[in-house]
Amino acid sequence: MNIQKIILSLCAAAIAVSMAVISVVFIYAPSAPVEVKTGVIAAGEFEPSKWGQLYPLEYDSWAKTKEPRKSNMSKYKKGWDDDGVIYDKLSEFPYMALLFNGWGFGIEYNEPRGHHYMMIDQSEVDSSRVKAGGACLTCKTPYADKLARETKGAIFSASYKDAVNMIPENHRQLGVACIDCHDNKTMDLKVSKWTILKGLENILHSGCSKEEMRNVVCAQCHVTYIIPKDAEMKSTDVIFPWKGGKWGDISVETIIANIKSSPAHNEWKQAVTGFKVGFIRHPEFEFFTRNSTHFKAGASCADCHMPYKRVGANKISDHDVKSPLKENMRACLQCHAETPDWLRERVNSIQEKTVALMNRSGYAVATAAKLFELAHKEQEKGKTIEVAIYDKAKDYYLEAFYRSIFLGAENSVGFHNPPEAMRIAGDSVAYASKAEALLRQGLTKAGVDVPVNINLELSKYINQRGTKKLNFRPEQEFADPTSIQETLLPKEMKGLNSKLN
Ligand code: HEC
Ligand code: HEC
Ligand code: HEC
Ligand code: HEC
Repeated sequence: MNIQKIILSLCAAAIAVSMAVISVVFIYAPSAPVEVKTGVIAAGEFEPSKWGQLYPLEYDSWAKTKEPRKSNMSKYKKGWDDDGVIYDKLSEFPYMALLFNGWGFGIEYNEPRGHHYMMIDQSEVDSSRVKAGGACLTCKTPYADKLARETKGAIFSASYKDAVNMIPENHRQLGVACIDCHDNKTMDLKVSKWTILKGLENILHSGCSKEEMRNVVCAQCHVTYIIPKDAEMKSTDVIFPWKGGKWGDISVETIIANIKSSPAHNEWKQAVTGFKVGFIRHPEFEFFTRNSTHFKAGASCADCHMPYKRVGANKISDHDVKSPLKENMRACLQCHAETPDWLRERVNSIQEKTVALMNRSGYAVATAAKLFELAHKEQEKGKTIEVAIYDKAKDYYLEAFYRSIFLGAENSVGFHNPPEAMRIAGDSVAYASKAEALLRQGLTKAGVDVPVNINLELSKYINQRGTKKLNFRPEQEFADPTSIQETLLPKEMKGLNSKLN
């Protein structure tokens, strides 16, 4: 069988399976929205208001992503407050400030907000975050694909500012637009960015069904990626680390293996350990599609984040993409008969357990990182740590670290796939514990007296960040909802206070 035939038959099998489950879900689903008009939208039309002349209802709802959201609807995903508070991920999870120290994410890292703001937020964030240059635009501007082709890839290594200047002036603040998700002639869902097309090839999946496209359009951006570097640390491309994965099975293990497969994937140097490492960003698609209950039931990103909505006599997909909690669980009610309060409590309960284990894993990894720092200081002073022990500890540490940042970057705080979140957190804690045990053994053998509790000195990393001099905001911290964390790492050992050092 040639490769094309394999892909076709795989797709047919996947479609057959999804049809089988969809038929169950469709019993609850509302009737299809009103038929779309096919009109004349010019090929390559970037301007959403031009599309809006034919589809005014979708256009109006798309434009609503500009409006502020209430931040009190979800305990763990505040978004951006309507009174202007910015929720700082490093204050929510202070261990991240230590782990990300050494590059942009350790300086300014905020909760996401509406689609309207994707280019605007990038221009306002601390400039260290866009050091990767034009590569940063891949998931933000609808022009990314065109510019990558026209510049033959030179846009990736261009400075961020130069790259933005390649976008027509009136569209430099334009985020995700109709052209990113739709065919101009048929209005069918469509993707064209090289990143997702290559990504789908890697999981041997193409010719996706209409239902699958309701996930795939979001997977253009809500996925993790690698920005490979050349010898001068200039960005050369943007790729999805999916090689070896399958549709419905892109595990954190697959992602880690892809990162580790080339030194060009080490995008930054972690200051505390001095290790060159890769990174994991917002893996919503990978996490949700890995055998979650809702994925298996045929639900898609669009079902929960773009529910059908009545506008006058019409029924449209709500293009005001947002958390279902910010619209009183209306999206869930398409399929569920429970009350909004019950559903909200379910989400909260899942997130609370995830936050507990994120703390467990994050602090375990941070402790191991500090032990590496100690080990390196002792080595400088002439102490010898057994190489085999050190190397094994480093292997375990990286496994623990990548799992911890995977959970931290995934935007649903566990909801998209609760058992998978528990699995990943558990494995992270196990790997971090092994790393800590080995380091303690190696250091003790080398004659170093290792303290029982390692002080994480978090204030050093979390206060006075970047040019904006950002500080810890204690009121935003998501401390362990159970009090178990404090029995493992006494509070004072976090070395965390809101005052400056
Ligand atoms: C072109 C890239 C891109 C595509 C395609 C995309 N998103 Fe996003 N999405 C983003 C970015 C970037 C942000 C964060 C924006 C910010 O904070 O500036 C975001 C934010 C969000 C948010 C948070 C909104 C809020 O109010 O806080 C949700 C929910 C979301 N996206 C869901 C989806 C879904 C569902 C799809 C598919 C239907 C999708 N996105 C398609 C890039 C994209
Ligand atoms: C079964 C419903 C469901 C499905 C399917 C689903 N999500 Fe979510 N999503 C949620 C819930 C619930 C949250 C948590 C929101 C909160 O706490 O406010 C969430 C959170 C998010 C957020 C963060 C929102 C914010 O306000 O910051 C993003 C981004 C997101 N999802 C994207 C996706 C993408 C992309 C897909 C498909 C790959 C997807 N979701 C599939 C229900 C769903
Ligand atoms: C992030 C991806 C995304 C963007 C951007 C986007 N759409 Fe959509 N659109 C969807 C999805 C998903 C559906 C549901 C389609 C389906 O299930 O077949 C949809 C459906 C539609 C439909 C069919 C009728 C309906 O409401 O379900 C129209 C018309 C439409 N969109 C117009 C627009 C216009 C106009 C814009 C720009 C202002 C736009 N869309 C931007 C994802 C997107
Ligand atoms: C497209 C239909 C659909 C949508 C939309 C949907 N669900 Fe579900 N949900 C299902 C199906 C089907 C199941 C599995 C069978 C069952 O338990 O009813 C399920 C199971 C669940 C479960 C139990 C399983 C688990 O993983 O914990 C919870 C809790 C849940 N849904 C909450 C929600 C919430 C909250 C929303 C909105 C954010 C939502 N669902 C949106 C169809 C849907």
